Amino acid sequence: MFNKGYADVLIGLQYGDEGKARVVDNIAHNYDIIARFNGGANAGHTVETSKGKLALNQVPSGVFYRDKILYMGSGCVINPEKLVAEIKGIEALDINLEGRFHIAGQASVVQPHHILIDGITGGKIGTTRNGIGPCYADRANRMDGSRLLHIRMGDLKHDPEYFFPLIAENLRVAAETYNFGDIDQVEIIQKMKTSFASISQYVENDPLFLQRLVESGKKVLFEGAQSVMLDVMKGCVPYVTSSHTVAGAAYVGGDLSPAFHRKTIGIVKAVMSRVGNGPFPSEFGGEASEEYCISLNEDGTPKHGKHFEAQLNLNEMLYSHHPFEVGKGLRVLSKEYGTVTTRPRRIGILDLPQLNYAIRLNGVTDLVINKCDVLREYSGTRNNKLPLVKSYEFRGESINYIPSSTMAYRECKAEIENYETFDEDLTTMRSKEELPENLKIFLNAIEQTTGTSVVAIGVGPDREQFITLKDF
Ligand code: IMP
Repeated sequence: MFNKGYADVLIGLQYGDEGKARVVDNIAHNYDIIARFNGGANAGHTVETSKGKLALNQVPSGVFYRDKILYMGSGCVINPEKLVAEIKGIEALDINLEGRFHIAGQASVVQPHHILIDGITGGKIGTTRNGIGPCYADRANRMDGSRLLHIRMGDLKHDPEYFFPLIAENLRVAAETYNFGDIDQVEIIQKMKTSFASISQYVENDPLFLQRLVESGKKVLFEGAQSVMLDVMKGCVPYVTSSHTVAGAAYVGGDLSPAFHRKTIGIVKAVMSRVGNGPFPSEFGGEASEEYCISLNEDGTPKHGKHFEAQLNLNEMLYSHHPFEVGKGLRVLSKEYGTVTTRPRRIGILDLPQLNYAIRLNGVTDLVINKCDVLREYSGTRNNKLPLVKSYEFRGESINYIPSSTMAYRECKAEIENYETFDEDLTTMRSKEELPENLKIFLNAIEQTTGTSVVAIGVGPDREQFITLKDF
């Protein structure tokens, strides 16, 4: 009836930081619209430009394609102050957003009390302290008696004089309840008003804004934030984010009917990483690594961050008998540290039961494997094999699924199958013909087990270090 255009959904299949933005950058030319459907300023990547670094948190990654429409759907939570800073950074690169950047009026506003509460309550989960969880919680709570908790971008545009005092009241009540200490509430609200005024022009009143564009023939790429294992319901609950990150969520939070879905593109990393707490059966060094990676100094900085690990002996770690040390070596080599926090990411072997779960749950047909160049480093380990997790040992049995209870998942031990390593440097390769035979065998094993095509691989961080294996 309406189907002139279509939508593809691109999501991370592991624990975040799989390099989704670089794939969006690579395929954005195939689409008219790049849209986000979940999360907020908790997502992030830094882009190196000729004029310096640019941090993107809320604006979709297609921003560098000047002819693309950028959309933030109603499933997103918007931080006006951070958005203004982000837009300034983009405009400083002479990239114009006017007329092509749109925010759903139904998207929720991250209020100041959300951020302050997250700083207090999000510690054990290791949240990014952007107020994301408290904002989604207020969306579900809606009201507290007669006090309105959930306020949307369309509300603020419609009547700021009415809604800002409600935000101030929410801050006042939360400050009393949580004892935020010495904060200037009037100044906080004033700053937010100023920020909102400069982005109000981007807020769309019509909830069918995106739908109408796609009905008229436009093609949209939905860009997921966070990843499948961080989904609030399907991930490792409670060590997850507070939104839905799965492909289906694009058709709720992205303001488009599912009738337009064409395909799902899944992004993974050849050596997995995760930040924050929670089970990770393929982690090098297990719980000792988890503890090591999350530990902080008294001032809140990471105890074993990027600068600390840069001083360690790389070859000794990589060739160690202890998986914990091998993981440290692989982390240094693959530069797996938080871009802003510099906290070490936990490192693990590519896990097929986990991948299978994510692929099936999301109908993934096209798989992109980033950081394949890092696989070469396994040839410097004592084991000198390319490992893949094929199943888990759970209470004496071999299983190939993720138990629903996170507590049970913690008990799972990785069962590993080894493949032959390769020693070639992939970072200079640009075509599939050049790839080492042992890498092809390894990729083929992934395709066979998951029933999905590996359509491209990343062989380094730069735009051209990306090899397309099949059209997608
Ligand atoms: P929140 O999304 O800030 O509430 O954080 C909840 C959990 O999700 C924490 O473990 C975060 O580190 C993780 N998380 C949130 N956003 C990202 C992301 O973009 N990449 C990786 N992890 C993330």
